[in-house]
Amino acid sequence: MTPLTSGTAGALSGRLRVPGDKSLSHRALILGALAVGRTRVNGLLEGDDVLRTAAAMRMFGAEIAREADGRWCIDGVGIGGLAEPADVLDLGNSGTGARLLMGVAASHPITTFFTGDASLRRRPMARVVEPLTQLGARIVARDGGRLPLLVEGALAPIPITYRLPVPSAQVKSAVLLAGLNAPGETTVIEPQPTRDHTERMLRHFGGEVTVADDGGVRRVRLKGQPELRGADLAISGDPSSAAFPLVAALLLPGSEVVIEGVGVNPLRTGLFETLQEMGAAFAITNERIDGGEPVADITVHAGPLTGIDVPAERAPRMIDEYPILAVAAAFARGTTRMHGLAELRVKESDRLAAIAEGLAACGAKVAIAGDMLAVEGTGVRPPGGAAIASKLDHRIAMAFLVLGMAARAPTRIDDGDTIATSFPGFVPLMNGLGAKITAAER
Ligand code: S3P
Repeated sequence: MTPLTSGTAGALSGRLRVPGDKSLSHRALILGALAVGRTRVNGLLEGDDVLRTAAAMRMFGAEIAREADGRWCIDGVGIGGLAEPADVLDLGNSGTGARLLMGVAASHPITTFFTGDASLRRRPMARVVEPLTQLGARIVARDGGRLPLLVEGALAPIPITYRLPVPSAQVKSAVLLAGLNAPGETTVIEPQPTRDHTERMLRHFGGEVTVADDGGVRRVRLKGQPELRGADLAISGDPSSAAFPLVAALLLPGSEVVIEGVGVNPLRTGLFETLQEMGAAFAITNERIDGGEPVADITVHAGPLTGIDVPAERAPRMIDEYPILAVAAAFARGTTRMHGLAELRVKESDRLAAIAEGLAACGAKVAIAGDMLAVEGTGVRPPGGAAIASKLDHRIAMAFLVLGMAARAPTRIDDGDTIATSFPGFVPLMNGLGAKITAAER
């Protein structure tokens, strides 16, 4: 554990790129490994979560190597061609890695054992066990559907139609990935749309996916047993990582920061919309499409924020951004009410509790009512000065380091190591903009 302190900073300035998108990076490795032929990936996130997925795909038989120029090269085994891993797959902190790979394993005639770190072993897997069992897999999990668990893949997988009981791109993707090795058509029905990276990337690799809007309900159909072909791919900057320098720049008077090459898939941009409604000054320019995903540059200027109501319908489009939004709300004038946050209870930590406890310790006024979080800002910088437990949760760690940059007194987190999950290089990058984040006394 490396404790870190974030001291009050002055205006931030600079141009930067954030590391590659975590969701896209997992999917690139998985689909590259399921394709026939070679895939080259530019800009892959080299964070711990994604490296675990790379290691897992190697254990399934794919050849995966980092080349001297930083690109990742994957030689796939083809759908149906996975080998049985000779050891337990340890997905570390990664819910996405665990759930997507359970989907992959479920429709191959192999037995795969899964485990993860203390945070991942607490997270619910029943949400993927249920549809994958319908598809024909046998899954034995610990009490409450938790890791470690084993997946005995179906010999003859059945294509299913599955309606998501919770809005989760991980569950949707697990079903679609399993459906790749089932004959016929696999369908996922989404009452609330979630990030569609799997659908887009499947098309990039030659898969057939159609999406229809059935009166506000999304119906995703996948044609089974396609031949995916290896394809080159560029991974855009992760909007969930860009959120941290972006909010820091908003909060520190006089700041101007440009973040280049950020993913702006409309199913990921809920935070940007919310901050704009709160009065944030930033511009999204140079929009383009890369590898089937929209990408843009973001220029942000510091400015005052006003509290607003964030509707529950928006939650799936900004599900990872509530820790940093809540920090921004603590600096706003007026109350920000964030609705529909039940899913935050089952992230890398119980984020609803972690946010509320951390903000209260930093002197902000905060309340939880059911699945709603209210943060009452006074327009005056909160005191800060607290020691925050990051609870094996990278986004809690980064959010409170950003709070420390703009609060009246420095904030300390107990464990900066967890940041490497999604944002390797976070500390030097933020310090390069003007932050004062240093190693703290143990
Ligand atoms: C992800 C989906 C989301 C998100 C996670 C990444 C993905 O999880 O929180 O960081 O890549 O599909 P849920 O599917 O549990 O909402």
